[in-house]
Amino acid sequence: MASPSANQIQASLGFGGRFASRLAAQPVLVAPSILSADFARLGDECRAALAAGGDILHVDVMDGHFVPNLSMGPAVCASVHRAVPDAALDVHLMVTDPAAYIEPFAKAGAAHITFHAEVVADPMPLIARIHALGMSAGLAINPNTPADALFPWLEAVDLALVMSVHPGFSGQSFIASVLPKTRAIRERARPGLRIQMDGGVAPDSAPACREHGCDLIVAASAIFGKRDYASAIQSLRG
Ligand code: DX5
Ligand code: ZN
Repeated sequence: MASPSANQIQASLGFGGRFASRLAAQPVLVAPSILSADFARLGDECRAALAAGGDILHVDVMDGHFVPNLSMGPAVCASVHRAVPDAALDVHLMVTDPAAYIEPFAKAGAAHITFHAEVVADPMPLIARIHALGMSAGLAINPNTPADALFPWLEAVDLALVMSVHPGFSGQSFIASVLPKTRAIRERARPGLRIQMDGGVAPDSAPACREHGCDLIVAASAIFGKRDYASAIQSLRG
């Protein structure tokens, strides 16, 4: 895997596209994943998660190929954007062909797009397209993918996502053996790089995530599965 040359690296505006300056002020961000929301009341669920302290909304996109499940596409993202236009939408593409979905999700109001390192040999062209559309860019690794799959691209991206479950479903158990990868990424990361943990994060696992350098916590069932979203978000943030 070749490292990007200096002139390939476009200066990042920071995580969160047009929301970057607002989000930069928060040391640990919490991203409610709407995958566990009640889809029949999605607008209300998004407003409730934001009112309870959620910093951004995590939008899980699954294609039935990269992961054994289907979830939501650009139309749902656009509806969420209309419902909560002041929320930064963090789109997590769990798809084998992320190139096909950059523009559709940009049009649907995404502020950020993450795609998986497992599906692209050279992520630089996609990172550049995401940045050119005014969004921040992230690269993700599954639990069985080593951290060094991300190392060549840490200067180019705004976010590194370490999956702590095998992607496809909310409500799975946290895989603690990914924590050393998070620390290894933090040790090599430039200041300002967000490191996101996604999968099975709950109040009992969130402290270890933060101690290993994670500063963006995604949670679906640990928020939308609870009665009190605000206390759930507060305990994840620490
Ligand atoms: C898993 C998704 C996650 C999921 C997390 O494939 O990428 O974002 O929504 O769900 P919980 O927090 O319930 O594990
Ligand atoms: Zn996700």
